[in-house]
Amino acid sequence: MILRRFLAAAFLAAATCGAAVAQDARRGAELAAPCMQCHGANGRSQMETIPSLAGQPADFITIQMILLREGLRQAPAMAPFAANLPDRDIEDLAAFFAALPPGPPDERRPRDPALITAAEALVGPRHCATCHVADYGGRNQIPRIAAQREEYLAAAMTQYRDGTRAGPDTQMNGAVVGLSDADIAALAHFLAQK
Ligand code: HEC
Ligand code: HEC
Repeated sequence: MILRRFLAAAFLAAATCGAAVAQDARRGAELAAPCMQCHGANGRSQMETIPSLAGQPADFITIQMILLREGLRQAPAMAPFAANLPDRDIEDLAAFFAALPPGPPDERRPRDPALITAAEALVGPRHCATCHVADYGGRNQIPRIAAQREEYLAAAMTQYRDGTRAGPDTQMNGAVVGLSDADIAALAHFLAQK
């Protein structure tokens, strides 16, 4: 845990310093071809368990790629694509995906008003929009969660709740503590429809 905290602090420092160096979104576009096979041609995933990357804050993408590369975030499908990726490639890929316009909600999924109402009763007391910003578009190291894939959102929240995923700190584990599976399903639906 101490090692983990040390690494996370180092990565955050690296990510912050990196912001001063010009990130090259054009070079990132050239590196992104293999990524798009899973994450979607325009950074909008067509697969439920794979997150969209379009419009994610560059710092968030950078930090997650480093966590994935160092094995601090477990994701078997992603691991080979993050392994051994140089910091410069990560920063350029992050700049590229951050600049893509985020997608609208997936209209193939019908909106369920009961789930939306259930989620609205949870987001206020748990301060979701305080961190993720009023439109849930994220900022800096905090991800965009609006119009993200519904199953991916539910899986991510379940991992935080069950302690199988944590970021550089445990903010998200605290935010979802005590939620039921039904609560998580409602929140995922609400956010996917944003
Ligand atoms: C074989 C499919 C596949 C490929 C190719 C792939 N990814 Fe992923 N990626 C995934 C999956 C699946 C996840 C979600 C892992 C999880 O469930 O936590 C993911 C997660 C991510 C995340 C975290 C996003 C979030 O919202 O937390 C980032 C960033 C990312 N990938 C970037 C990339 C980049 C950059 C590339 C190309 C270098 C790439 N991926 C290639 C499947 C893939
Ligand atoms: C104290 C700030 C904070 C609060 C409050 C908060 N979050 Fe987060 N959230 C974060 C941070 C930081 C991350 C990235 C953590 C990481 O690196 O894994 C995150 C990640 C997520 C993710 C993963 C997204 C992805 O692409 O992998 C989801 C889903 C999420 N939050 C939903 C919520 C919901 C729903 C709420 C309210 C119940 C909430 N968050 C409250 C800070 C917060």
